Amino acid sequence: MPAQNPTDKIVKKNLETFNRWAPHYDFSLFQWWMKKFHRKVFVEVDKNVEAKQKAKFLDLSCGTGELLYELAKTKPRLQLFGVDIAENMLALAKHKVPSAKFFQMDVHHLKLKDNTFDYVVSTEAFHHYPNQHQALSEMVRVCKPGGKVMIADINFFSSLLHHLFVKVEPGCVYINSRKEMIRLFEEAGLKNIRQERTFLFAVTTIGMKRKEKKK
Ligand SMILES: C[S@@+](CC[C@H](N)C(=O)[O-])C[C@H]1O[C@@H](n2cnc3c(N)ncnc32)[C@H](O)[C@@H]1O
Repeated sequence: MPAQNPTDKIVKKNLETFNRWAPHYDFSLFQWWMKKFHRKVFVEVDKNVEAKQKAKFLDLSCGTGELLYELAKTKPRLQLFGVDIAENMLALAKHKVPSAKFFQMDVHHLKLKDNTFDYVVSTEAFHHYPNQHQALSEMVRVCKPGGKVMIADINFFSSLLHHLFVKVEPGCVYINSRKEMIRLFEEAGLKNIRQERTFLFAVTTIGMKRKEKKK
């Protein structure tokens, strides 16, 4: 994996790209693609949410809010929160999911309190983050001990295809192999790490934040 420097330039490029893209983002064929990244998240929330009243769900890089919209319909007990860098994407998300709270923030610098959310999720966005270690460490920081961190991202089986995709997709920084993603989760201190391919081009990695040891 190449050395990664957090660069404001890449974050700015993503902001501009997704602001331009926002009016066309909910085009149905494209959403068919995006839904493949949401699939596993529903299963993981399904397993636990009935037991947890008022569980807090944070969708980082929520885009136009499709995932939150589906959760609002099917899991009314969840408290929903969305973060994105691009204000035009957020404007559509706010309109679509009025019950959720939204913040315009860079995932590398979340202005959110430690240990707050039961679920911290990023779908089809991790390959846009210029400093993936820092982004994941922020995800872990805001997750409650015992809570779940989930990343669903692109994976095309081959590093050559990953390399080509980085060249053609604006704002794309680096696509991890399955092993690299597991390593990132281990380095972030997560436990019970699991991974599943949910479609030809989508892999979801899940880990649990450790509970603090009693002194
Ligand atoms: C391909 S879209 C995925 C949107 C959504 N998660 C979904 O599944 O439909 C990637 C999103 O990541 C956001 N993004 C990119 N870099 C970001 C950053 N540094 N901080 C927060 N959001 C970012 C973009 O604005 C965009 O909305």
